[in-house]
Formats: sequence, structure tokens, C-alpha cells
Amino acid sequence: MKPLPFIEINPRLCARCGTCVHDCLAGILFFPERSSSEADSVSSLPEFCEGGAERCFQCQHCLAVCPTGALSFAGKRPEDSFPIGKLPEPELVRNLLRQRRSIRDYRRENVSAEIMRELRNVMDFVPTGCNDHRLRFTWSSDVKVTDSFRERVSSWLQERELTGTLPASLARFAAFIPALKSGKDIFFRNAPHFVAISVPPEAKDAHIDPFIAASQLEILASAFGLGTCWAGMATDLFNGSDELYEKLNIPDGFVLKIVLLFGIPAVHYARVPQPEPCVHQELET
Ligand SMILES: Cc1cc2nc3c(=O)[nH]c(=O)nc-3n(C[C@H](O)[C@H](O)[C@H](O)COP(=O)(O)O)c2cc1C
Repeated sequence: MKPLPFIEINPRLCARCGTCVHDCLAGILFFPERSSSEADSVSSLPEFCEGGAERCFQCQHCLAVCPTGALSFAGKRPEDSFPIGKLPEPELVRNLLRQRRSIRDYRRENVSAEIMRELRNVMDFVPTGCNDHRLRFTWSSDVKVTDSFRERVSSWLQERELTGTLPASLARFAAFIPALKSGKDIFFRNAPHFVAISVPPEAKDAHIDPFIAASQLEILASAFGLGTCWAGMATDLFNGSDELYEKLNIPDGFVLKIVLLFGIPAVHYARVPQPEPCVHQELET
């Protein structure tokens, strides 16, 4: 039998049911042909095909799907996986999606370390193109850290405008200077926290993965009673200013895609808005 790179199968637990073979996206698991002498003996374990290691997406579906917990993947054992838990009723998910709002008014208070941990941990599970998973989350977990960004952004913008050195890509933000001067937090919306999501530009779906992550983070945060707001303007500002970008400490090889603000909301919405409906179009044969 060929060794199975990454994958270890416990022969005592494996039911030879082929569920892992069937579910493998890359099709790299197979049952070897049995010779007539073997035919009556216990059937063989799944094997890994030639070149399979290179084609493996490392999605771990084989580990996840095995009904008897016989398969370990790169040292990750089935008994260490999160158990399959209860899911919310569709009505609750629908409420969450409808009732999520962009929050622009927050309590000046840090979110608990426990909720912060939950938010971080679930980010390991977001889908990425080709299962790339090289997302990087840069957190501002303390309101004082976020304050330092608020101040830096505001003073940088004012100084650049004053000296006529505001990059053309950011020229539209000059209009916000009077509001910033009057204490209005245009870019960070008084949020106590933010997370900056970056990705290597060569990741297959670098243009999408961070947005999926932000969207899932937003939904999870809402379920914890937190408010969020996508900070597209702050993202543009960071990307248009080397000095501001540097403060984010994003390593070389990663590009910033989106900043998401979050914290405990200080506003309560009594009802749901009535957005213009999207267009849904039906295909025909
Ligand atoms: C990619 C993206 C960027 C956004 N950037 C900002 C922003 O910079 N500032 C802001 O206040 N809201 C921002 N928003 C929030 C939208 O403007 C918001 O969705 C819209 O006002 C509708 O409100 P709702 O999210 O409560 O339905 C952004 C949303 C998205 C999806």
C-alpha cells in the first residue's frame, strides 16, 4: 500500500464505506483494485493516488465526512474536531440578515475578551477561493488604540490638505475636514474597535476572500449583539497614504482589502428599513 501523505486511516475504525473517496473534491483518494486472492479478505483501505499531495486542497472534507472518525488529516484527529452543533431556525437567520444595520454610534467601551476570542476563532472557518486561507486579520482590540488611529487619520488629512499634498486619489476627503474639525468621526464612526483584513495579492480570489470574511464576521458580531460598519472610506484612506498604512503593521506580501468597525451599539433600531428590491431574473432552458 502506498503511504498516504497527510492522511492516516485507522484500519480498525474504517468501515471501507468509500464516503471519503466519494467526497474528495480533488479525486485523490481511491480504493485499489483487489486481486482474486484478496477478494475474500477484508477489503483494502482507501489509498492516495500518484501526485495526490500536490492536488490536495487540504479542505479536510475527508476528515469531516468520515462517519466512523477513522481518518486523521496532517495530524488533526477527528476527536479534536468541533462536534456538529445545533443550527438556528431559518427565521432567526432571516431576522439577523434583515435586522443587521450599519452602526455609526457606539458605546465607548471595549468588547469583552471572550467575545473577541469567539470572533477571531470563527474566522478560521470562512471559505476562501481554492481553500487558500491566507487571510490576515489586524485587530484594534482597545478603544485607546482606535483613538490613536482616529487622531492620526484626522491630523494627517488636515495637514496634507493645508500643505496641498493630499494625493489625488484622496482629494474627495478634503470635504470632510470641517466635520472632522468639529469632532465628527467620519472614518471610524466612534467605534471602539476595528479589524483590517488583508490578503496576499496572488491568492486566487484575493479580490473576494476578505469581503466574505468581513461579511461573516459582521453576521457573527450581530449575533453577539454587537454593531458593525464597513469602513470603505477608511480603507481607501489607508491604501492612499503610506504613512497611515504603515501604522497598520501589515507585513509585506499582503494588501489591505477592507476595514470593519465594530463595538457595542449605542443606537437601537425600532424597525427594519425597506430597501429597494434587488432584481431577480429567472433563466429558461
Ligand atoms: C464595501 C462597503 C463599504 C462601506 N463603507 C462605508 C463607510 O466608509 N462609512 C460608512 O458609514 N458606511 C459604509 N458602508 C455602509 C453602507 O453605506 C450601508 O450598508 C448603507 O448605509 C445601508 O445601511 P445598512 O447597512 O444599515 O443597511 C459600507 C458598506 C459596504 C458594503
